[in-house]
Amino acid sequence: MKLTVVGGGSTYTPELVDGFARLRDTLPIEELVLVDPAADRLELVGGLARRIFARQGHPGRIVTTDDLDRGVEGADAVLLQLRIGGQAAREQDETWPLECGCVGQETTGAGGLAKALRTVPVVLDIAERVRRTNPDAWIIDFTNPVGIVTRALLRAGHKAVGLCNVAIGLQRRFAAHLGVTPAEVHLDHVGLNHLTWETGVRLGGPSGEDVLPKLLADHGDTIAADLRLPRPVLDRLGVVPSYYLRYYYAHDEVVRELGTKPSRAAEVAAMERELLEMYADPALDEKPALLGRRGGAFYSEAAVDLAASLLGDGGSPYQVVNTLNGDTLPFLPADAVIEVQAAVGRQGAAPLPVQTVDPLYAGLMANVTAYEDLALDAALRGGRDRVFRALLSHPLIGQYAYAEALTDRLIAHNREHLAWA
Ligand code: G6P
Ligand code: MN
Repeated sequence: MKLTVVGGGSTYTPELVDGFARLRDTLPIEELVLVDPAADRLELVGGLARRIFARQGHPGRIVTTDDLDRGVEGADAVLLQLRIGGQAAREQDETWPLECGCVGQETTGAGGLAKALRTVPVVLDIAERVRRTNPDAWIIDFTNPVGIVTRALLRAGHKAVGLCNVAIGLQRRFAAHLGVTPAEVHLDHVGLNHLTWETGVRLGGPSGEDVLPKLLADHGDTIAADLRLPRPVLDRLGVVPSYYLRYYYAHDEVVRELGTKPSRAAEVAAMERELLEMYADPALDEKPALLGRRGGAFYSEAAVDLAASLLGDGGSPYQVVNTLNGDTLPFLPADAVIEVQAAVGRQGAAPLPVQTVDPLYAGLMANVTAYEDLALDAALRGGRDRVFRALLSHPLIGQYAYAEALTDRLIAHNREHLAWA
C-alpha cells in the first residue's frame, strides 16, 4: 500500500508517522511519500519520520519530494494536510477580525472564510492532479476548513472524505471518565465540522445504552472545564458541544479574551521553531512530548482508522467523518457536507441515521451550512460581493457594517493568495 501526504513537511507529520508505525497491522504501508514545497522542513521531518519507522521496526519506505505529480503516482490514498500561507497567514486570520469586534479564529467566522478562500483553489488543483494520475485513489482531507474543502472536493466529483480529530478526542476523554476502552464508546455525534454536538454517548455501539446523562452527572465539572464553558450550560443543554461552540455560546467573552493575549498562531509558530530544532537531532527517534501541546491529538489514530477502512477491512466499523448529507439531516440540503458517524468501507462513507435534531442545534447548523455554501461560491468564483455575502450570512457576523469592514480587511490581508483580488 502506498500513501502520500501532501503537506508532509508539516511539524504534525511525526504524529502521523508515529500512528502509522504503531498501527501497522491495521494499515500495512509499504511506501509513505511526504510531499512539500519547503525543502528544508521536508528534510528535517522526513529524517525523523525514517528514524521513527526504524525504531519501531516498520519495514515501510519513506520518500520525500517536492514533486506533487510524482509523489501521488500510484498512491492508494492521498492525505491533505496543507496550510496555504503557513502560520503567518493564520496569524492574520486570528487578528484582523478582532479589529471589528469579531472572533479571530482560523476556521470559525471571518478568519475561517479567509482560509477557505486561500485553500479551496489549491486543494482542487491538487485533487485534479491526483485524479489524472490515479483515478481510484481516495483523498482524505484534514485541511481546514474541512467542511468547506470537502464540499468543494465532492462537488467536483472527487473520491474524498473529510477528517477532524474533535470526535476521536472526546471519545478518548469520555472513555477515560467511564473506565472503558475507546473502542467501546460510540458517540452520537452530529453537526458540521467544528460545529458539532454529542447528543448521546453509547456503550458498545450505535444501539448501546446511552450513558451521557450519567457521564454529565459524574464528570460534568471536568467536561465543562475542558470546554471552558460554565457547568450550568452543559446541564441545561444536556448534550456536549465541541469546544468550537464556545465561539458562539461565549462570543463576546472570547473576543475580549483574544484581545488580551498573543494569537494561537504565534504560540504555534514558536512551538514549531522548537519542534524543528528537535527534529534536526539525529538521536531523536520518537515524536517529542511537545507535539502533544498542538491541537491534533489522536489525528493519526483517526487517519489510520479511516484509511484502513477505505482501502481494506482493517478499520473500525463506524467512524466520524465529513461526507455528503443526502437525507441524513432533512433540514439541510442533500449536497451539504455534514460531520456524523458513518459506516466506512471501500465504497466510501455512508452516514448512520440520526435521531431528530433539537431546533436549538438544527437552526445553527442550517445557518452555517448556508454560509458554507456562500463561502464556497466566493472561493470558486471570487469577487468582493461574494465575500460580503458569505460574511453577512455568518451567524457570528450578520450586520452589514461588520460584513463591509471585514470584507475590506479580508481582501487586503490576502491579496497575494487570491487570484481575483
Ligand atoms: C484541532 C482541530 C484541527 C485544528 C487544530 C489546531 O485538532 O480539529 O482542525 O487544525 O486543532 O491545533 P493547533 O495546535 O494548530 O492550534
Ligand atoms: Mn478539526
